Amino acid sequence: MKLFPEHFLWGGAIAANQVEGAWREGGKGLSTSDVLPEGLFGRLDERGSDNEYLKDVAIDFYHRYPQDIALFAEMGFTCLRLSIAWSRIFPRGDEAAPNEAGLAYYDAIFAELAKHRIQPVVTLSHYEMPWALVKEYGGWGNRQVITFFLHYARTVFQRYRHQVRLWLTFNEINMSLHAPLTGVGIPMESSPGEIYQAIHHQLVASSLTVKTCHEMIPGARIGNMLLGGLQYPLSSKPADVMAAMEANRHWLFFGDVQVRGEYPGYMQRYFRDNAIELHITDEDRDALRHGVDFVSFSYYMSGCASAEPEKYLQQRGNILNMIPNPHLSASEWGWQIDPQGLRILLNLLWDRYQKPLFIVENGLGARDQLTAEGQVNDDYRISYLNDHLQQVREALDDGVDIMGYTSWGPIDLVSASKGELSKRYGFIYVDRHDDGTGTLQRYRKKSFGWYQSVIASRGAVL
Ligand code: BG6
Repeated sequence: MKLFPEHFLWGGAIAANQVEGAWREGGKGLSTSDVLPEGLFGRLDERGSDNEYLKDVAIDFYHRYPQDIALFAEMGFTCLRLSIAWSRIFPRGDEAAPNEAGLAYYDAIFAELAKHRIQPVVTLSHYEMPWALVKEYGGWGNRQVITFFLHYARTVFQRYRHQVRLWLTFNEINMSLHAPLTGVGIPMESSPGEIYQAIHHQLVASSLTVKTCHEMIPGARIGNMLLGGLQYPLSSKPADVMAAMEANRHWLFFGDVQVRGEYPGYMQRYFRDNAIELHITDEDRDALRHGVDFVSFSYYMSGCASAEPEKYLQQRGNILNMIPNPHLSASEWGWQIDPQGLRILLNLLWDRYQKPLFIVENGLGARDQLTAEGQVNDDYRISYLNDHLQQVREALDDGVDIMGYTSWGPIDLVSASKGELSKRYGFIYVDRHDDGTGTLQRYRKKSFGWYQSVIASRGAVL
């Protein structure tokens, strides 16, 4: 049995807006996440009222991070993927000077991680941006936002250059096609042309951020982050195979630009066929050439594509709308479970990019029951993760260069799509519920000990 490489990074992944809470503390400004309290597709509340939402407190990581990080260390984490809330550093997004309290908060987090020898993997933008940039500037639809973002990136690179060596630009950058308000800060009902123009600005910002990171932090590595929306042809009909190729290109396009540094020919055709005319300057083209050092991605499920999609029942998956695969079962939220798909995806990305890969999200959202003895017997989660990690090992054996694995939500957190807490991913149970009740106390689930043994044995127990 092959062991995982010694240098393989093991850990978990969280996002500021899903764990921190403290949405108005430390001088933080309002973010897109704060005005979408019921999730990516939920209604907008600009917070003029006294309404309180789950995310306002979330799991109170803002105050409880020492205890939570100690639990991660107990599991043997060698890395933690987390995000910085842009609106803690620049509350409105357009200020010249950063908010010192926000910077100090992440100083403390990184110091705590260092104490436990856990390496931070930092996402600069995970599903949120300062709301003022949306309201007053029109979000990423406005190219001025590139400048604001670069100012933010430079600020945190400068401040944390000795603490953080691994960076990611935009979380699930392809998600903007489905949730443009969260992704690029433009209205949900924007036209494809408007969405792609905003995406273009974000891609330029991503590349310039890569360049800036290399200039400011020699030796640091910076990657992109894709929602790995793997799709199979629903049948062997060539038209279905073509539909799957196109569906995959829909998201691979982002990786193609971020790795290869230019718009692929198939995308230019797509723009022509759909009468989309993007404003792309020569400077933009130059800027795009700065490719990422590694490719990171999330993987939860796969789906199918058909030349006649309207014939099949559509389900809302992880933001994507994919046709269910008749050969797979699904989670309670309809996400189809496909461990082998992870090996396929790893090989596909490696063959396409020849860049190191980092699995920065994977996991099972489920309803857990805390017993009277304070236990959670989450064998279903162990089985999901075990089967996926076995496939990671297979991919390593296939020769794929994989830097590490961070499971999504190692501690229960607020769901991104629905803003709920009943969909739990953690190895650590948090006593908080959709109605806001609960003590916020933490409990080790059965999977806690299991993941600990996986890390300690470098995968031998899988
Ligand atoms: C990814 C996001 O889409 O999937 C996370 O990067 C999110 O922020 C995760 O939480 C799981 O989705 P959900 O909707 O179950 O929270």
